[in-house]
Amino acid sequence: MKAVVVQTFGTPDGMAVVDVPAPEPGPGQVAIAVEATGVGGVDAVIRRGTLGGYGFSPGHILGSEVAGTVTGVGAEVDPSWIGERVWAFTGTGGGYVEQAVAAVADLERIPAGLTNEAAVALGNSGSVAHFALRHAHFTPGESVLIRGAAGSIGLLAVQLAAQAGSEAIAVTTSSPERGLRLRELGATHVLDRSGSGDGPATYDVILDVVAGPDLPAFIPRLSPNGRLVLLGVIAGLPPADLSSHLMQSFQRSLSLATFSLDTISRPARALVRRDQFAAAARGELHPVVHDILPLDEAAKAHEQMDAGQVFGRIVLTP
Ligand SMILES: NC(=O)c1ccc[n+]([C@@H]2O[C@H](COP(=O)([O-])OP(=O)(O)OC[C@H]3O[C@@H](n4cnc5c(N)ncnc54)[C@H](OP(=O)(O)O)[C@@H]3O)[C@@H](O)[C@H]2O)c1
Repeated sequence: MKAVVVQTFGTPDGMAVVDVPAPEPGPGQVAIAVEATGVGGVDAVIRRGTLGGYGFSPGHILGSEVAGTVTGVGAEVDPSWIGERVWAFTGTGGGYVEQAVAAVADLERIPAGLTNEAAVALGNSGSVAHFALRHAHFTPGESVLIRGAAGSIGLLAVQLAAQAGSEAIAVTTSSPERGLRLRELGATHVLDRSGSGDGPATYDVILDVVAGPDLPAFIPRLSPNGRLVLLGVIAGLPPADLSSHLMQSFQRSLSLATFSLDTISRPARALVRRDQFAAAARGELHPVVHDILPLDEAAKAHEQMDAGQVFGRIVLTP
């Protein structure tokens, strides 16, 4: 089967389409004929080599979430899964393929009314957005700033914050056009990437998927008792002296936290995902699919991500 691997970490031209044996489902796993694969920001971060210390080696198959039809089951798995249309989390790799394997605990049936493409734009991102707001101890009425809101995590965080009763939802984004689209999803204030614009001076909660050298500039944007939760590293790791910026605001009792979905139990994730899939099928939650490209064009999808052209999520189809 075809798979897209990283041969050289760095630019998208280090990616290649190769032929590999189709994986067999092990105990507790299913095999899935993939019909849609989400191209996540985390894939770009891995491909660039930003997470070099986490043990990714050349030949790594990218991709962490797929949708398709279950074609086989491993030992200890109920064979009635065969033929089901499912979303699946494949881990930190294994998704840019024609046939994937995933643990049965990481599957979700896709309800009628939700496309495969929408499911892979929503699956993990919606859970990250949900649990990140919880990790930030967000309560209704509090103000929220979402840095890097034009990605699939941010777009869902905007919608969830609006639905949970946030009165002020500011977003950072790079263009007025994106700002308009973010307003349609619930943003009340649109800021540029540096955080300048017509919005409150400070926020109770900041969700940040960007990090990088500019992160310290957002610490003074927290209200007293404010909480900044770091979700991603799109712009690279934050500077090493980050904590000194926090200490400069000591008298405002600020909190700086990281959040990874890995710390949320599979059953808890599954409950939230099921609710979000149902909400999206009813039209109450809007995952955003930027474009659908053939699997062979995965490198093109990554070029578009690196060029900052993607609003929401690109989806690959075999
Ligand atoms: N915490 C978790 O459990 C978890 C789970 C999955 C993924 N992640 C992380 O989340 C990140 C990807 O999230 P995503 O897919 O939602 O985002 P994304 O699509 O990669 O990017 C979101 C937006 O960030 C803005 N951006 C890009 N580069 C920037 C820069 N240098 N400075 C400021 N803004 C920039 C862009 O919007 P504009 O051009 O409009 O500014 C972009 O559309 C990755 O770091 C990944 O590791 C975390």
